[in-house]
Amino acid sequence: MPKKKLVVLSGAGISAESGIPTFRDAGGLWEGHDVMEVASPQGWKKNPALVLDFYNQRRKAAKQAQPNDAHKIVKRLEDYFDVTVITQNVDDLHEKAGSSHVIHLHGSLFQMRSSLDENLVYDIEGDIHLGDKCPKGSQLRPHIVWFGEAVPLITTAAEISIDSDVFIVVGTSLQVYPAAGLIEYLHRDTLKFLVDLNPPSVDYIKNLTIIADKASEGMRKVMEKLMEIFPN
Ligand code: OAD
Repeated sequence: MPKKKLVVLSGAGISAESGIPTFRDAGGLWEGHDVMEVASPQGWKKNPALVLDFYNQRRKAAKQAQPNDAHKIVKRLEDYFDVTVITQNVDDLHEKAGSSHVIHLHGSLFQMRSSLDENLVYDIEGDIHLGDKCPKGSQLRPHIVWFGEAVPLITTAAEISIDSDVFIVVGTSLQVYPAAGLIEYLHRDTLKFLVDLNPPSVDYIKNLTIIADKASEGMRKVMEKLMEIFPN
């Protein structure tokens, strides 16, 4: 029998226990920054040095962070399910935990791209400096989807989501579209779970189990429930 299809939609909350701050919680990243200054094409145009510095700092922090039990459980689910991770996170903690299929909806800290041609994408481990140019001569920028920009992978993500038997949402406030809309595409009978310390209101979603807990503990509970529902 082929394995059932399971999708994990993750957000900043899954990386919180790894020491990476979320965006909208108290003390979160957006509390200390003007979002439009560091995460929009307008901000980039106005002050690219500030934007580069912001993401250089994020990259440094992400490099030092280690996956926590929630990322590890997501990886372990591959023993039982055909798993795709759709993450809004730009860190690489799902990859560090060993997950095989990770879609980075909002880009990655470990890639940079030409600001002229979005198809010119390069790996990056260190800092991006003002003056670092792509082969076409334009300044290199973080490969991050900023506010007001298209989300190129959303169609792929939606197709995989619609096809899922199990859909787990973990650690996202579901405030940012189109990512937040993925849960609305699902079949009624797709088994759905939502893990969050402070779960967003999603009472319009059918067949959903809400687990109000931190990501590691919540994912442990989801795993336990899945093993009961799908004993092998
Ligand atoms: P948010 O900061 O909006 O939401 C984080 C969610 O994680 C909230 O619902 C918290 O309750 C929850 N949370 C916090 N700590 C947790 C923990 N230890 N365990 C479980 N849950 C916890 O982050 P996102 O929803 O990921 O986009 O934000 C979506 C997008 O907005 C981001 O990808 C980013 C941001 O602007 C870009 O930068 C393009």
